[in-house]
Amino acid sequence: MRAWRFHQAGNIENLVLEEAPDPEPGPGEALVRIASAALNPADRYLVQGQYPRAGAPPFTPGRDGAGVVAKAPAGGRFREGDSVCVLGGLTGISRQGTLAEYTAVPEEWLAPIPDGWTLDEAAAGPLTHLTAWRALVVCGHLAAGETVLVTGASGGVGSAAVALASALGARVVALSRDAARRSALTDCGAALVVDAAAADLDKALKNALGAERPALVVENLGGPWLDLAARFAAPGGRIMVVGLLAGLAAEITVGLLIHKNLKIEGLSVSCFSPEEARTAWSEVVRLLNGTNRRPPIGCAVGFEDVQAGFARLAQGVFGKVVVRVSAP
Ligand SMILES: NC(=O)c1ccc[n+]([C@@H]2O[C@H](COP(=O)([O-])OP(=O)(O)OC[C@H]3O[C@@H](n4cnc5c(N)ncnc54)[C@H](OP(=O)(O)O)[C@@H]3O)[C@@H](O)[C@H]2O)c1
Repeated sequence: MRAWRFHQAGNIENLVLEEAPDPEPGPGEALVRIASAALNPADRYLVQGQYPRAGAPPFTPGRDGAGVVAKAPAGGRFREGDSVCVLGGLTGISRQGTLAEYTAVPEEWLAPIPDGWTLDEAAAGPLTHLTAWRALVVCGHLAAGETVLVTGASGGVGSAAVALASALGARVVALSRDAARRSALTDCGAALVVDAAAADLDKALKNALGAERPALVVENLGGPWLDLAARFAAPGGRIMVVGLLAGLAAEITVGLLIHKNLKIEGLSVSCFSPEEARTAWSEVVRLLNGTNRRPPIGCAVGFEDVQAGFARLAQGVFGKVVVRVSAP
């Protein structure tokens, strides 16, 4: 089969399309012919050698994927020909990932394609929406009517957090540096959108928020954005640290944490058990279907164009970059 693999961690250009052995599914695993995969910043970190617990090269990254079961384990939940998507587990971390024509996945980490969804949408949804769910619900304990601030809101996790938080009855304030993406965030359910690149961002955010400060912040960026989250959070506010696109380290005003009784919590989507992930995913699908939304897709690239897809992701894109791996 053809697969994108790197033989040595380093630059993203180390990832090349080549022939690789067909995977042999072990007990309890299904062989999935991947039709669509979706790119995540974590795939890049993995190729760059910056991801914990990464598999040994030659290695295929790719956490998200949807396709058709080519070989099913006996007595399992799926049959050959079923359409499925990957919910997580170690696929694309220490198990070979989805940027390949075939991958073997423990069946407990697969879910059926939601009714009426395309394979692209089913590939685009799981990692980002399960992360957003963990930030909003599992760790963030969001209550209807609360104000939620989302940084890096136009990205995969951000747009998922906006759609899910608004579906859960929150007032969502979304930050993006791009006017077109801010408009898409309004369509996605944001009550307020603010230019993250505004010359006086504090003033712009204060004006937008009015008297009601965020009880919950979904913080996707790190660097200076964590302190901004602490400055704007309501007293007793919860800051969910999801990502680090703007900086691995952050300086934070300690007095704010003390005087405002703030809670800062890091979270990883990898902490879901398969059962928890399947339950969370069914809630995500129910909420998206109930609000007539689907995981937003920013662009689709061909299987030969994965490098262009990573470049597009790094530029900033509303929603997901999907890779069309093979004809369904
Ligand atoms: N904790 C977990 O389990 C988990 C799971 C998934 C992802 N993550 C992490 O969460 C972060 C977000 O992931 P994602 O998939 O949403 O990323 P993404 O799709 O690449 O989008 C992030 C958005 O953030 C903005 N942005 C990017 N770099 C920025 C910078 N230097 N300064 C300010 N804004 C910037 C861009 O929006 P605008 O240009 O529109 O402002 C971009 O569209 C990543 O660090 C990722 O690794 C963590």
